[in-house]
Amino acid sequence: MLDYVTDKAHDENRQGEAYAPFAGDPNQYAKRFDIESYGCAMNFSDSEIVASILHQEGFGATRNVEEADLIFLNTCSIREKAEQTVRKRLTEFKKLKEARKGMLVGVLGCMAERLKSRFLEEEKLVDIVVGPDAYRSLPALVTEASGGQKAVNVLLSRDETYADISPVRLDSNGVSAFVSIMRGCNNMCSFCVVPFTRGRERSRDTASIVAECRDLFERGFREVTLLGQNVDSYYYSPLAGDAPVNFAQLLEKVANIDPLLRVRFSTSHPKDITDDVLHTMARYGNICKYIHLPVQSGSTRVLQLMNRTYTREWYIGKVNRIREIMPDCSISSDVITGFCTETEEDHQDTLDIMAYSRYDMSYMFAYSERPGTLAEKRYDDDVPEAVKKRRLTEIVNLKNRLSAESNQQDLGKHSPC
Ligand code: SAH
Ligand code: SF4
Ligand code: F3S
Repeated sequence: MLDYVTDKAHDENRQGEAYAPFAGDPNQYAKRFDIESYGCAMNFSDSEIVASILHQEGFGATRNVEEADLIFLNTCSIREKAEQTVRKRLTEFKKLKEARKGMLVGVLGCMAERLKSRFLEEEKLVDIVVGPDAYRSLPALVTEASGGQKAVNVLLSRDETYADISPVRLDSNGVSAFVSIMRGCNNMCSFCVVPFTRGRERSRDTASIVAECRDLFERGFREVTLLGQNVDSYYYSPLAGDAPVNFAQLLEKVANIDPLLRVRFSTSHPKDITDDVLHTMARYGNICKYIHLPVQSGSTRVLQLMNRTYTREWYIGKVNRIREIMPDCSISSDVITGFCTETEEDHQDTLDIMAYSRYDMSYMFAYSERPGTLAEKRYDDDVPEAVKKRRLTEIVNLKNRLSAESNQQDLGKHSPC
């Protein structure tokens, strides 16, 4: 059961929280929706924003696809396989749709943004296509599609952050929650589709982030994860004369809400994480000593082709700095194997840097060429699948060893916060 009944006091500074009138009486819902999320935490967090927008318009959520009038898939484009999963799932709705006249299927998120109206041609059963910056128009699109028109809005925005929308906590354990602090990405790593699906980077109003975290704390939540593709480049300039806020300052404001609120964040781009952030982490017992610092490759030559803007040595320097300031800080990473032109020597460099960094956890992927990215335009995807797979296996084996060693060291310890 999803619990949409909230007892929080209305805060004049925050709008969009008045969905209580619909709670508790399913008969009042105009339509029932089901939303499934794929991809990264940003997508899961966006689904909570979408649920909130729909809820305010009198739509109620259901976990039961069979009784849904609207089925939404919040999709991911990061690798070919992520898209295939969504296409496969769509085929499962075919029978359901035939059986239930008027049922609508909507595709949200990164795949919607990437494929735009082509989605409607390729997947006939899709009625609505909505990109990540267009969720406010969802109720209007549902109305349009209910009238028999196919409905599309994939406009990207330079300023949409959904700052005023209080997310409905889907599948919540009541303890930890994601709080989105920024959207988009300006980095243009050559393998990555995100800058095209999520648009330009923009930071969310600081006061709305702190208010959301405080509200979560008051409702019993004890852990927030501040989310963004690149949290360390958070930078918010208030309009009315106040000083701008960077990520270290935001972290401090959230940590100051209450010592009992644990604070996490993800993801850090190695080039942007500053000493200021590291010192702020060290200063506050309630900021978890954990940094997700994706390396992608250990070879400077490959890093350059990836447009990551740091070298192997620079990354190692960052790991050293983290350990200097916080000797017990956990570090995790993302690694891509078999990127264009990657040699055995480059691969060894990746294994070396993983061992050097002693990652507590790594997320590892075989390179998947994405249409429209810089790498697709400039380089040949020339590492054979079998070689990518073999290298991936070697990296996974090393990761398992490093994670086991890290876990071993924690035996018998208690969490400091
Ligand atoms: N913003 C984050 C990562 C977002 S995508 C960052 O900068 O680190 C999550 C991970 O997916 C990336 O870190 C990368 O390791 C992986 N990834 C992205 N594009 C990929 C591709 N084309 N093929 C394989 N893995 C990819
Ligand atoms: Fe993609 Fe790079 Fe942006 Fe991460 S920083 S989302 S990998 S372009
Ligand atoms: Fe996937 Fe989009 Fe996230 S491509 S990884 S859902 S930003």
